[in-house]
Amino acid sequence: MTLKSQPVTLKSKLPSVGTTIFTVMSKLAADVGAINLSQGFPDFDCDPALVDAVARHMREGRNQYAPMQGVPALRQAIAAKYQSLYGAAYDPETEVTVTSGGTEGIFDAVAAVVHPGDEVIVFEPCYDSYVPAIEVSGGTAVVVSLGYPDYAVPWDEVRAAVTPRTRMIMINSPHNPAAVILGPQDIAELARLVEGTPIAIMSDEVYEHIIFDGVRHESMARHESLRARSFIVGSFGKTYHVTGWKVGYVVAPAALTTEFRKVHQFVTFSTNTPMQHALAEFLAQKRGYPELSAFYQRKRDLFLELIAGSRWKPLKSRGTYFQLLDYSAITDETDMDFALRLAKNHGVASIPTSSFLYHQSASPVLRFCFAKKDETLQLAAERLRAV
Ligand SMILES: Cc1ncc(COP(=O)(O)O)c(C=O)c1O
Repeated sequence: MTLKSQPVTLKSKLPSVGTTIFTVMSKLAADVGAINLSQGFPDFDCDPALVDAVARHMREGRNQYAPMQGVPALRQAIAAKYQSLYGAAYDPETEVTVTSGGTEGIFDAVAAVVHPGDEVIVFEPCYDSYVPAIEVSGGTAVVVSLGYPDYAVPWDEVRAAVTPRTRMIMINSPHNPAAVILGPQDIAELARLVEGTPIAIMSDEVYEHIIFDGVRHESMARHESLRARSFIVGSFGKTYHVTGWKVGYVVAPAALTTEFRKVHQFVTFSTNTPMQHALAEFLAQKRGYPELSAFYQRKRDLFLELIAGSRWKPLKSRGTYFQLLDYSAITDETDMDFALRLAKNHGVASIPTSSFLYHQSASPVLRFCFAKKDETLQLAAERLRAV
């Protein structure tokens, strides 16, 4: 008997997902030799003492599986940070979980909450992992648009989008890609909206330590009624300039964390051990994060100064390490066409913001990452001024 090989065809769970724009633009930047201000990562090194600490923990033999919920010293340091910054008491035993990056935390939170047929409200533009996480769990993303150019949350529309099937609202402040933040008014609206409902909140706060002009970060942890229903997602990649390490965490009340950990333990089980030990030392000593906003605010201001007087119109960046630039005085091309031409002909790679949209049509803005050495920003600005 001859066995015929038969290709397996899959019914895609994510039919509309292709290669992410970050991969596309970073590859294009490398291919054409463009300065890469597209994907969000620093082009400078982290504190060498952090690398030394990882190496020390490796040499001292901390190379086997970490506890599923995370190394105790790191969970304790995370809980202590929430207490000192936001006055919130999280129990490191039952309410803090270390994850393999913020992305894993977002995915696990959604998977823990969303059943087939459930609805999750997301605000577009939004980080690209949100909607796929919802859809893989059989949920439906209900998209509410934040409008260009101020990207404020239209709370009336959010209220209208809530149905008996709404299980979660996903928020992100400081916001990627719009670089806006939620203020006290938004917090009050959100609190009113979820009161008396079973709606959970996934609060993506990975840029919590990158917020500008002296404004305070409105963590869900600060607000009793919101904290009680929130999965708060953090990322050491953003805070310590180590995006490639993929270490993050989720804090949530014990009942939420119990379900969250059931997913986490079968997605990754645990996160790499020596880096957790090193990060625990840095966090416990309050290193790095207290001065991060000032560090990036200087870079934002430098970038804006360098392109002042050009045809690019900056939208105010209130947090994150991203700057949106309006190009309507330059061309009426779509953001995708223009981003490709800008990388190929002018040597600067950016991200077209339409990649973060689902319903809304594209606006004439590109996203630039300013987590770069001053020399990189200077060179990029020279090229942008010439456009
Ligand atoms: C808004 C937002 N959420 C989550 C993440 C993911 O963080 P991590 O790299 O720790 O997975 C990112 C990374 O770019 C982000 O911009």
